[in-house]
Amino acid sequence: MSDIDLLLKGGRAVTPAGIVEANIGIKDGKIVDIGAVDFKAAEIFDASGLVVLPGVIDSQVHLREPGLEHKEDLATGTAAAAMGGVTAVCEMPNTKPSTTTAQAMADKFARAKGRAWVDHAFFMGGAPENADQLAELERLPGVCGVKIFMGSSTGNLLVDDETILKRAFASGHRRIAIHAEDEARLKERRHLVEGGAHPKMHPEWRDAQTAIIATQRVLRLAREANRPIHVLHITTADEIRILAAHKDIATVETTPQHLTLSGPECYERLGTLAQMNPPIRSEEHRQGLWRGVELGIVDVIGSDHAPHTLEEKAKPYPDSPSGMTGVQTLVPIMLDHVAAGRLTLERFVDLTSAGPARIYGMKNKGRIAVGYDADFTVVDLKAQRKITNQWIVSKCGWTPFDGMKVTGWPIATIIRGNVVMREDTLLGDPLGAPLRFI
Ligand code: DOR
Repeated sequence: MSDIDLLLKGGRAVTPAGIVEANIGIKDGKIVDIGAVDFKAAEIFDASGLVVLPGVIDSQVHLREPGLEHKEDLATGTAAAAMGGVTAVCEMPNTKPSTTTAQAMADKFARAKGRAWVDHAFFMGGAPENADQLAELERLPGVCGVKIFMGSSTGNLLVDDETILKRAFASGHRRIAIHAEDEARLKERRHLVEGGAHPKMHPEWRDAQTAIIATQRVLRLAREANRPIHVLHITTADEIRILAAHKDIATVETTPQHLTLSGPECYERLGTLAQMNPPIRSEEHRQGLWRGVELGIVDVIGSDHAPHTLEEKAKPYPDSPSGMTGVQTLVPIMLDHVAAGRLTLERFVDLTSAGPARIYGMKNKGRIAVGYDADFTVVDLKAQRKITNQWIVSKCGWTPFDGMKVTGWPIATIIRGNVVMREDTLLGDPLGAPLRFI
């Protein structure tokens, strides 16, 4: 008889007490001991030479099911997550139909059962027709919160009317996640690209002011309603400065692609593959986002994994859809920034494990501690690899980082004590379960 199910042995672990050499004992999906422990284990995972992180949680993904399964589905999108070292995802409501009812939410969980490779939560979409019911809808099990698109993007979820926004903010208590682009300004400036333009015009049409106006507006609404918000994919140096004065009410997210790519270079090189909302901006804004990471203003890094097929992306701009894959590349891209000295490993964990767990109130996730779920992203900080389209298991089969050499790679993904990915291979069956919230 073994004492425990799994022993992670010989690795260095990023724990709340620092980065320590520690064995980690796991039983019934939970961490039962950490330190110089040596149990009789049913299975031993040799982590020598590797670093064990708390499971990386990607707080912003679009998995396209139901309705847009030609781009991605819950099986392929979560397989991409597991391949990339991600143990849990929060999925966005702009599917077809949009996730705006209890029924649509139940349908997503039913579809994920037995097919999702990683643990998951779904956002409830805020819409004019459900604005007064959000208090009940945000409380459904497995829901990470309400998401509101203040500017139109992929799909038809949009709330830019002040009275509806106020009603939505008055219904319920949980943190509302916001896509902050000003719809009126988007409409006013659309003529800049109408009829065809180079994709490098994307950040001219959807300019910094478009984002700044919406972020300022949502901060005002949050204050008036005394409602916490999470401002997604921040793209400007200006918003970082603005948000620094509102940390009591607003948490902040940015993406690996906004921290890594900048225009106009990325648009010249990648064309519409670099097109997303809000856009990749100038080098100056990219540096501003890094200041936000360095100063603690940014709480979370989420990938905004938003797959579209290469055929769709081949449409001439601006008819080409906005969005790029990201869930599989989040860990290697950010570890490469760690290797380059741009952030510490502890800060990476703060942004991708502790951060999402804290801001959305996830139970038992986000740290290596006894009693917590045994979710781990096991990484080799020294591994030098190349990100390629061939490695991408997302249905659309491409990444904007194709050909990029990185230092640091996810070696294994462990979810509640189950090794679901090792050495770029998925193992076993999809066992992803709904996340739980306080
Ligand atoms: O570029 C984007 N793509 N931004 C969004 O807000 C939505 C996403 C998508 O779903 O394609």
